[in-house]
Amino acid sequence: MKYEAVTTMSGQTPHVRVQCPETPAARIYVKLEGCNPTGSIKDRACLGLIRSLREEGKLKQSMTLLDASSGNFACAVAFYGRLMGFPSTVVVNSKLTVDKRNFLEYFGAEIIQVGDFTIEGNKYCREVLLPQQPDKYLFLDQLHNWANPRAYYESLGPEILADFPDVKAVVGSLGSGGTMAGTGKYFREHKPDVKLIAVQAAPGTKLPGTGAFEDGDYITPFIQQSIDNNVFDYVVKVTERDAIQRAMQLKDQGLFCGLQTGGVMQAAVLATKHFHLEGDVVIISGDTGWKNLAKLLQVNQ
Ligand SMILES: Cc1ncc(COP(=O)(O)O)c(C=O)c1O
Repeated sequence: MKYEAVTTMSGQTPHVRVQCPETPAARIYVKLEGCNPTGSIKDRACLGLIRSLREEGKLKQSMTLLDASSGNFACAVAFYGRLMGFPSTVVVNSKLTVDKRNFLEYFGAEIIQVGDFTIEGNKYCREVLLPQQPDKYLFLDQLHNWANPRAYYESLGPEILADFPDVKAVVGSLGSGGTMAGTGKYFREHKPDVKLIAVQAAPGTKLPGTGAFEDGDYITPFIQQSIDNNVFDYVVKVTERDAIQRAMQLKDQGLFCGLQTGGVMQAAVLATKHFHLEGDVVIISGDTGWKNLAKLLQVNQ
């Protein structure tokens, strides 16, 4: 592969098969979003948002990129901001891992920590930072800007369908909902018989990239629209224990991913059994292990 610039390297991530004796009739493939330049699925949303705001004429030289995130999106903002010559300010929360904080510091983001949920940081951007210096910041607003799901509609959905024309199910987690809203819309339009499985965190569970909506994670307009349009065939709530167990099984198969991947694997197994699926099932692994290493070491089995 040959690229003229790092900004063109996101997407086209590989799919690798994992063995799962519990579901012998299904072939489970993991889409490794950790292969994106910042090691997560959020490169797609971040680039999509920056491009769309630039096209709207809102991105001016000397502006600072601003958004709230529990980690991976913040890393993408810091990285692509630096690459494109924009400083970044990210409002993170208590879910930020040590490794993600190190990444943010390495790429020179200003880090502000507010609360436990991304929506609290989003409000802080909107109600505190922006009014103070309205001309300084370009607020990406991943929780409300429809360029977020559009990025997945235009890239991730088509990539999966191109590699798996007969895919039976696609499984992914709901953070902002951009991934599953965009991918879900794409499949509903292009292959409506696919089962779309959305993964949440069970109450009391903190999993990166996987909202615990009963606990206070925010249901974004994209998630709400997907629910209203019956986009998801099955919604699974995973516990941290399930996610850890699955992540450790995947580790034995050479997959170095965050706990979100364990969560989607657990949901894929439950959904495959529930629908008696046979054939290709694709699970969307949101990130690599590197930015989760301290946590993975804590739960290592
Ligand atoms: C590891 C990981 N996987 C999946 C997601 C879900 O992405 P989305 O915000 O598009 O729902 C995220 C989002 O934070 C993430 O960090």
